[in-house]
Amino acid sequence: MKVVGFVLMTMMVAGVVQGLDNGLALTPPMGWLAWERFRCNVDCVNDPQNCISESLFMVMADLMVSEGYRDLGYDIVSLDDCWLDHERDDEGKLQPDPTRFPSGIASLANYMHDRKLRFGIYEDYGSHTCAGYPGILGHLETDARTFADWGVDYVKLDGCNADPADMDEGYPAFGYHLNKTGRPMMYSCSWPDYQALTGMTPNYTAIINTCNLWRNYNDIQDSWASVTAIIDHYGDKQDFMVPHAGPGHWNDPDMLIVGNFGLSYEQSKTQMAIWAILSAPLIMSVDLRTIRPEYKAILQNRDIIAVNQDPLGIQGKRIYKENGIEIWSKPVTPVKHGNHSYALAFMNRKDDGTPTKVSHSLRSLGLTSPDGYVITDLYDHLQYGTVLPDDQLVLEVNPSGVVILSCRLVVAT
Ligand SMILES: *[C@@H]1O[C@H](CO)[C@@H](O)[C@H](O)[C@H]1NC(C)=O
Ligand SMILES: *[C@@H]1O[C@H](CO)[C@@H](O)[C@H](O)[C@H]1NC(C)=O
Repeated sequence: MKVVGFVLMTMMVAGVVQGLDNGLALTPPMGWLAWERFRCNVDCVNDPQNCISESLFMVMADLMVSEGYRDLGYDIVSLDDCWLDHERDDEGKLQPDPTRFPSGIASLANYMHDRKLRFGIYEDYGSHTCAGYPGILGHLETDARTFADWGVDYVKLDGCNADPADMDEGYPAFGYHLNKTGRPMMYSCSWPDYQALTGMTPNYTAIINTCNLWRNYNDIQDSWASVTAIIDHYGDKQDFMVPHAGPGHWNDPDMLIVGNFGLSYEQSKTQMAIWAILSAPLIMSVDLRTIRPEYKAILQNRDIIAVNQDPLGIQGKRIYKENGIEIWSKPVTPVKHGNHSYALAFMNRKDDGTPTKVSHSLRSLGLTSPDGYVITDLYDHLQYGTVLPDDQLVLEVNPSGVVILSCRLVVAT
């Protein structure tokens, strides 16, 4: 019995969900993860600049600081698969590949901490990771202890080479051991994703009490088709998914691929805007050495980051979908007399070669506060001034692009 003493407290009172109480991830986690961009490149002989090695993570950490990402909130730098040696050490502990991580993981974690960054690690609940390195099954307590000893701040636990039916026990058991180390570590789970893939119905009561964030759909790939499939999934399943998100516990639609090869400029703006509306973890996976300035500006848009990091932590919804136009809405602060402010994203799914004109009253979008809203476009900073509920909002949305607006409640004095 692995979970003795692990008390799961669940309260679902008036729609308020209480999740894992480790004091972490009160707003969606932000950082950088190797996987989507660097994959399992272990060829440091022929490709030393891009292989999974301590120097890659150190270079990225330096750029997180010098290029201003950390100060905007992106403060986690995380390993993904392929950092491990193929064998545990003589004491049964995990160890990194000795040629690619010669200084060891504790040293790499220190490197992050010295730069006021947090250090993330990757493992897998099963016998092996997805790429075939040792998994944690049979070693849960030892591995949680090792992570704490190394100074890990964030654990991504994948679900390859495991029986999804065991995960209802296994992921909470590892969470129990993480907790018992006494070191606060964010816990990123893949449990619902692997269960859904086999047709099981994930138990979200248990998931939100165990994990700070969890993947529930396919891995993101470097394409617009992948981004839109994720957006559609989140829109189609929103009535089920939205109540699970909140401070400390988040749905994770996977990494930001802005700045890589697959998305146009407009599409990149769309991913960032929709991820902000979804209260998604903002985990970049991009080469920070070569990212072009216009893509960096998307990732560093303070106002859109603020939408994502709003303290209420409400996951936004798709409230309109017609003729290739979608409107997504997220309630945010300030709130007064029960009225929220909102972020609205207008997304154009069409591939017409010309922008589409969109016209709606705020009231038709659920913004009914009689004194109106001060509206600002968060990409081009156009100011609309104060707009009343029955005024018509007219916008042009670029093909496969987005317009994202802050609609700040006017509070009459
Ligand atoms: C362990 O769990 C308890 C009870 O939920 C919580 O108060 C505490 O902060 C947790 N500690 C860590 C290190 O996660
Ligand atoms: C889901 O998890 C909760 C908390 O662990 C548990 O009380 C409940 O029985 C589970 N529900 C199902 C259907 O297994």
